[in-house]
Amino acid sequence: MSVVALVPAAGRGVRLGAGVPKALVPVAGESLLSRAVRGLHDSGRVRHVVVAAPADEVPAVEAELASLRSFVHVVPGGAERTDSVRLALAEAERVVPDARVVLVHDAARAFTPPSVVRDVVRAVEEGAPAVVPVLPVADTIKQVDEAGDVETTVDRSRLRTVQTPQGFAIDVLRQAYAAAGDIATDDAGLVERIGGKVSTVPGHPHALKITTAFDLAIAEAVLA
Ligand code: CTP
Ligand code: MG
Repeated sequence: MSVVALVPAAGRGVRLGAGVPKALVPVAGESLLSRAVRGLHDSGRVRHVVVAAPADEVPAVEAELASLRSFVHVVPGGAERTDSVRLALAEAERVVPDARVVLVHDAARAFTPPSVVRDVVRAVEEGAPAVVPVLPVADTIKQVDEAGDVETTVDRSRLRTVQTPQGFAIDVLRQAYAAAGDIATDDAGLVERIGGKVSTVPGHPHALKITTAFDLAIAEAVLA
């Protein structure tokens, strides 16, 4: 089955505060975006990638990915992540019209091991309409009231944190986005809203999302 991946990379990286869009921030000489795209490539399961870049950074992003030119298409992203994914999906359907599986993978999860990509693709190929990589929750979770006082300790045994790439039968993601009017940070959440089943595979600690300078320092330490 032909697999296409969408990489939303059009965010500004305000919380990281690096002065350039987060996707272009280098770690040990290679940008987060380049690392994320390379992980998809190295999985051996992705035919093509469509990157949504900040609208004013398309040439810079194309230059950044020059070594993967035949594998990648760059389109201008939108104001919200949802818009960027929607724009990338439209381009993917044009570039790879026979794609049956689509992955959505944040540029900010630059260190996701290729094995996670393969596990997500395999689960969709085996029939899951939507698949997310997840990790168990390590911390104790408390629910608090508006004053910050604890109401209850939540049973965490069935809680999971969600990573990317998230994988979909392409028709399912298309339907979910057609039905979605508003903003979503989680593509699988849009599938849930149209009543679709979402399955899980094990995620990986290295698939952490780089949000702050602290996260970047952790990633640098892992690489070193
Ligand atoms: N993203 C996007 N288009 C947007 C906003 C975000 O493609 N309009 C992408 C980001 O580039 C990132 C992913 O969605 O790869 C997750 O978003 P986030 O971690 O919030 O990144 P930023 O929006 O860049 O960071 P911040 O919110 O701190 O500005
Ligand atoms: Mg953001």
